[in-house]
Amino acid sequence: MVDSLKKPDVAQRVKQETLLTPRFYTTDFDAVAKLDISAMEADFRAMLAEFETDYNREHFQRDEAFEAEARQIDPQWRELMVEFLERSCTSEFSGFLLYKEISRRIKDRNPLLAEGFKMMARDEARHAGFLNKSMADFDLALDLSFLTKNKKYTYFKPKFIFYATYLSEKIGYWRYIAIFRHLEKHPENRIHPLFKFFKNWCQDENRHGDFFAILLKSQPDLLKGVVNRLWIRFFLLSFCLTMYLNDRKPDNLYSALGLDAGEYALDVLHKTNLDSGKVFPLILDLDNPAFRRGLDACADINLQLEQTKGNKLAKLPLMARLGFEALKLYLLKPLTAPQAEMVR
Ligand SMILES: [Fe+2]
Ligand SMILES: [Fe+2]
Repeated sequence: MVDSLKKPDVAQRVKQETLLTPRFYTTDFDAVAKLDISAMEADFRAMLAEFETDYNREHFQRDEAFEAEARQIDPQWRELMVEFLERSCTSEFSGFLLYKEISRRIKDRNPLLAEGFKMMARDEARHAGFLNKSMADFDLALDLSFLTKNKKYTYFKPKFIFYATYLSEKIGYWRYIAIFRHLEKHPENRIHPLFKFFKNWCQDENRHGDFFAILLKSQPDLLKGVVNRLWIRFFLLSFCLTMYLNDRKPDNLYSALGLDAGEYALDVLHKTNLDSGKVFPLILDLDNPAFRRGLDACADINLQLEQTKGNKLAKLPLMARLGFEALKLYLLKPLTAPQAEMVR
């Protein structure tokens, strides 16, 4: 089984971009350097002190027990585990590259902000390295320097980078803690020792999310007004759809862990959505039955899309239907933040 997963296959898979593939980002570094964060300086300094404590400096260590357990993985879960490792490693590495580049490019003009990004790059490098070592157990490795040079970089204005990274860090936190808590109750479903590390790991992601929360709050102009509200709705929905469509695929890692993938995704989305109401002026109305129906419709169309295997003629009408269903979801009335407080 391991022999069938040669290195070229991994490189090939990473090259096959889909709507749901993790991406690499770049931004307007000059605009980030010019941000005035003085309104939240005390919070930034407190956050930096947290980062500097470096709670997880010794956490990501593999011992013999880890390696023995990793070697004994049930062959039926290998392919799923490899897929999870590739995807997660690429995401962590993408975060590392972006944070490191922002830190490097702004350090002379905005040292406090640069330091925060440097600390987060340190954490993401550690996460990516740890995942890559687990890939080596399968005789596989992501060539990170190849990826750095050959991946396409998507440009986003700083505002959109902040919306996206804030949501991605928070969703990462809720995903990992939900898996950890589930496996605490059902250790028999822990198919790989990596999941034992999720509790401390997700605290890193939570701190990163808090850093972006402070950053966004220091720039109230990025959160106010009709146009920003429309963009925030767009980002909230994009994250929601990306996670739900990925997780609703059959034979996924979550069912291997004994989770109901659909319920798990909805639980994580609920928590992330409510959490984001602490920063964003609005959140999605996930409890609206029309929302749930729309999500399921999108997930079903996405599955049909996967079955077309690149056949453009079959793909186009499905893409149009998916777009239409997503638009209907976008137009559903969101909840404003005070309503979000009440739901909480
Ligand atoms: Fe991370
Ligand atoms: Fe992170």
